[in-house]
Amino acid sequence: MALYADTQAVAMLSILDLFAMKQAGEKISCLTAYDASFSQLIDQAGVDVMLVGDSLGMVIQGKKTTVPVLIEEVVYHTQCVVNARQRAFVIADLPFLSYGSTEIAMKNAAKLMQTAGAQMVKLEGAHVDIIKSLVDFGVPVCAHLGLLPQSINQLGRYKVQGKTLQGAEKILQDAKKVEQAGASLLILECVPAGLAEKISKNLTIPVIGIGAGVACDGQVLVLYDMLGISVGKRPRFSQNFMQIAKDIPDAIAQYHQAVKQLDFPTELQSY
Ligand code: KIV
Repeated sequence: MALYADTQAVAMLSILDLFAMKQAGEKISCLTAYDASFSQLIDQAGVDVMLVGDSLGMVIQGKKTTVPVLIEEVVYHTQCVVNARQRAFVIADLPFLSYGSTEIAMKNAAKLMQTAGAQMVKLEGAHVDIIKSLVDFGVPVCAHLGLLPQSINQLGRYKVQGKTLQGAEKILQDAKKVEQAGASLLILECVPAGLAEKISKNLTIPVIGIGAGVACDGQVLVLYDMLGISVGKRPRFSQNFMQIAKDIPDAIAQYHQAVKQLDFPTELQSY
């Protein structure tokens, strides 16, 4: 297997590198990843962060939402990704109801970090007490605000969040709260570009956007959306990089460059 051909050691990125990128004004590139082969390709393209998202429920398992995804499934896919990673920083998702109390969150964060080898866990919502407890025990946390896919059964449909003054203010305040609680990264999903810019400027921690405009400190896309192979309709905020690339490694490299050079997202993929 080609995976073993190049055993040269490459320095693995840490949270300090991501903070340094924000301070230097260098955009952080991030893609979701679920297996070793894509992990290797993404890593070799120089993408900074890989997120083992619970989007795996939709793009790998063909489920309608992320709600049915189990912690054991995220552990399995995180192991696959970590096995082939050399440089990229790896974040793993805590799936639906896997962080409903401090005790449950600790147990599941241990699975993602100790068993699977993730460097950080991600959870949806401004659950400041859970974030504080995890951080107190040395678990780096990425908070996820804006559109929260795990809440789809409350939301009714996937839609842009923070469009009203009140809605925008709530997301801004929640962002400040999760930073104060100790989160070291924030993912903002499907919010107006102006709001995301304000939040990115107000926070010290890096803010990575998906459908949140070009002013965030970094960008993330679901890998299968940007390769044009997702089941179902590709969201408006995504772009099929295979349309401009010669092959899959080239598409990933072009996405990475487009993020670094502020060529992605454009207004077409923003709200
Ligand atoms: O699960 C996932 O892939 C995510 C991204 C959409 C940010 O949370």
